[in-house]
Amino acid sequence: MSPLDQPLATARDLTRTYANGVNAVAAASFEIRAGEFVAITGPSGCGKSTLLHLLGGLDAPTAGELHVDGLALHSAAERDLTRYRRHTVGIVFQFFHLLPTMTALENVMLPRLLQGESPTTVRPKAEALLALVGLADRATHFPHQLSGGQMQRAAIARALVGEPKLLLADEPTGNLDTAAAAQVLALLEEIASQGRTTLVVVTHSAEVARLARRQLRMRDGGLMQEP
Ligand SMILES: Nc1ncnc2c1ncn2[C@@H]1O[C@H](COP(=O)(O)OP(=O)(O)O)[C@@H](O)[C@H]1O
Ligand SMILES: [Mg+2]
Repeated sequence: MSPLDQPLATARDLTRTYANGVNAVAAASFEIRAGEFVAITGPSGCGKSTLLHLLGGLDAPTAGELHVDGLALHSAAERDLTRYRRHTVGIVFQFFHLLPTMTALENVMLPRLLQGESPTTVRPKAEALLALVGLADRATHFPHQLSGGQMQRAAIARALVGEPKLLLADEPTGNLDTAAAAQVLALLEEIASQGRTTLVVVTHSAEVARLARRQLRMRDGGLMQEP
């Protein structure tokens, strides 16, 4: 069987109840296959970001099960979760979260430097990714010298530098003007079409959702329809 037929992620009755009693994710069950491009959609407050954080190993479920790439995230030891966050996933946020005192190139290099790799080996990889996202000529610019769309493309390059199996993005075009959003969209589509990375994008944008091969529609923490 091709690895593309295997589920990369499997959630069963996945639940995240916050201390205030809110069921941000409520008994959600779904599968995401390797190489898929999935959009998570739904009204504000329905639990999209919470679900993405669970997939990224940034938050832990309070009930149910979540397996990604063979790791049981719901019961994993902190050591395994750290490895998972560093090696298996890359995350893109609405507000970019680039470090302001580092250049675009340094921001992209950082995840691998933190893993102990030498700048000499990381630099060419980071430069190639900046070229991929159309920022070859912005490598030495600091975030404040970049437009919103350029910052988001740098953030996408940073998320890809660890060669993640799973790329997660939370409203990646939510803070961009139409032209910049279109560029980020084209980039996501290109990444998805290469098929090496599974892509899960939380979005309000009908256009982003349309690009995805499948939508997980959320309401009040649950999923509206099964894959
Ligand atoms: N840290 C938190 N503590 C308590 N409630 C939260 C927290 N984060 C989010 N919520 C609540 O959980 C629900 C889902 O939030 P969220 O996942 O951010 O939704 P979305 O991303 O779809 O807008 C909302 O009702 C929100 O107010
Ligand atoms: Mg959100």
